[in-house]
Amino acid sequence: MGKIFVDACLGKETPYTPVWMMRQAGRYLPEYMAVRAEAGDFLNLCHNPKKACEVTLQPIDIVGVDAAILFSDILVVPDEMGMDLSFVKGEGPKFSDPITSDEDVERLIGGDEAASKLTYVYEAIKLIKKELAEDKALIGFTGAPWTLATYMIEGQGTKTYNICKKMMYSNPKLLHKILAKVTEVVKLYMEKQIEAGIDVVQIFDSWASAIEPGKYDEFSWRYIVEIADYLKEKYPNIPIIIFPKGIPAFLDKVYGNFDVFGVDWSTPMSLAKEKLGDKYVLQGNMEPCRLYSKEETTKCVEAIQNTMQGKRHIFNLGHGILPDVPVENAKHFINECHRVSSKATN
Ligand code: CP3
Repeated sequence: MGKIFVDACLGKETPYTPVWMMRQAGRYLPEYMAVRAEAGDFLNLCHNPKKACEVTLQPIDIVGVDAAILFSDILVVPDEMGMDLSFVKGEGPKFSDPITSDEDVERLIGGDEAASKLTYVYEAIKLIKKELAEDKALIGFTGAPWTLATYMIEGQGTKTYNICKKMMYSNPKLLHKILAKVTEVVKLYMEKQIEAGIDVVQIFDSWASAIEPGKYDEFSWRYIVEIADYLKEKYPNIPIIIFPKGIPAFLDKVYGNFDVFGVDWSTPMSLAKEKLGDKYVLQGNMEPCRLYSKEETTKCVEAIQNTMQGKRHIFNLGHGILPDVPVENAKHFINECHRVSSKATN
């Protein structure tokens, strides 16, 4: 049996439009909270292939999505490059020693040495592939170099991005040096994820909107395209999804050898379709907070279906699901996506 999600990524016709949710393996699921408690904390869970496999499969069984996304985090990459990652309760991720100089970048572990340290990720992928149903796909992922760099430079999440933007405008060479080093690791990391068995790649540029449109290509997009080119040359049949959050002003300039463009919730699907629909399959894009209301969920799913007509489309949220969404509402979203897009056969 083929995988409907992979077919949809490649623009083939499918019996219905497949759906998954960003952050689908996470805190809104009591079953996730139970496994995280057994593991001790979030990073232990990422480092434990058996438990990571278990939580990866939960949304398939519980909410009925068409694809699993590997349970891990984008920040394990800088962690294995030698930055000391921790998750402080209630405050999110922290790096104790942010990058401020050329010497700091030179000290980072690069290339294959860093990518080879992420063995727990590759082990998790192998376990998941053994247990995942034949007709479901496994999505592997990475952060885009820019999004990873924001954490490496700021040391934590930020509202203003002032430290990395100060570097962007006053020492762009240093920022490029960081981005280039991260790009090399990410290429090999994704290659190893593919070799371990993932079916599809997604690149998250969650903090794309922090860059002014005229600078976005220089500091982020071109590195993403470099990663996509590298992977496409070696693995032309593995679909690549790029999710750059919040860049409507850049839609006219989007280029590159990848398959699916992830549309965030602030970009109208009709606009994305007009600008990119001929070139790329589109994924998205319900505003995640619609999940608080079943009625609003149904309205939005119908509107998206109306725009996309079940062609060259994958349903998803326009960003991650939040921890306080009732599981029942997430199931409703998945069911509605399947209902509105099912092609009657008789
Ligand atoms: O279900 C999935 O999507 C797979 C797992 C996944 C996680 N993080 C698990 C996680 C994925 C794909 C990510 C990606 C990720 N991590 C991104 C890009 C995607 C996005 O949402 O924009 C970013 C920016 C991060 C960095 C990160 N990780 C932050 C800022 C935080 C803390 C904020 C938060 O949501 O709590 C994390 C922690 C994290 N990553 C959790 C999960 C399930 C919550 C940790 C917990 O269990 O307490």
